[in-house]
Amino acid sequence: MVQLRPARPEDAAPLAALKLVTFRETFLEEGFAIPYPPADLARFEAASYTLPVVAAEIADPAKRNWVAEAEDGRLIGYAQVGPCKLPHPDATERHGELYQLYVLRAAWGMRLGGGLLGLAMRHLAATRPGLPLWLGVWSGNARAQAVYRQKGFEKVGEYRFKVGDITRALRADYLAEVRNWMAHSGLRQQVCLYERPAHRWSPIMRSAASSTRTSRCC
Ligand SMILES: CC(C)(COP(=O)(O)OP(=O)(O)OC[C@H]1O[C@@H](n2cnc3c(N)ncnc32)[C@H](O)[C@@H]1OP(=O)(O)O)[C@@H](O)C(=O)NCCC(=O)NCCS
Repeated sequence: MVQLRPARPEDAAPLAALKLVTFRETFLEEGFAIPYPPADLARFEAASYTLPVVAAEIADPAKRNWVAEAEDGRLIGYAQVGPCKLPHPDATERHGELYQLYVLRAAWGMRLGGGLLGLAMRHLAATRPGLPLWLGVWSGNARAQAVYRQKGFEKVGEYRFKVGDITRALRADYLAEVRNWMAHSGLRQQVCLYERPAHRWSPIMRSAASSTRTSRCC
């Protein structure tokens, strides 16, 4: 049986490895096959998924991390939340944001993503009662959007996401407001998402990065 639990300091090494694998599964050849320039990709991965970075994230009191641990002790999914940093006029750092939600491809469909998201939402409802919850998701990521919609998120805006020096220009999309799950608790949630599909990539986008976030990729 898979256990969903808060991340512990000793999870840092396996969690860093899981983060790297799931990012690559999602966005590189096996997944959306986004053609990141190698140097940008290397810089992004080093800034996001190395052991010191992940250990610091687990220790950071402003962030909260959960993992899905398989019976054999392997980590196969994770979620992370923290203060909202999304560039939307209605968002503030008092609001919560789902920074990351990833499950190993081999474990998709086992309700781990939904379970981790539920833990994150319950935590934010308890620690930031009555405030919106935000997240960003790539515009081409239909599966994740379906999962978020199922939890009541809806699109409310758009932004650009940066990997290395390259900005993936976000198509107008998915900022959303969660209604269903939160209706009884009074918590309004919003989701910010989308970028345009990879085939529309252009070097023109390189210069449009100043206001974008660089620290994560949901
Ligand atoms: C998105 C992701 C986390 C979902 O995790 P998962 O464990 O496969 O999802 P679950 O099995 O918990 O499914 C959650 C719910 O969404 C539903 N769902 C899943 N895919 C769906 C789809 N394509 N269309 C409609 N509903 C879907 C499931 O049926 C389930 O509903 P249920 O609980 O009522 O059965 C996982 O696919 C993943 O890691 N993807 C790659 C990384 C990623 O895209 N992360 C999000 C970045 S913002």
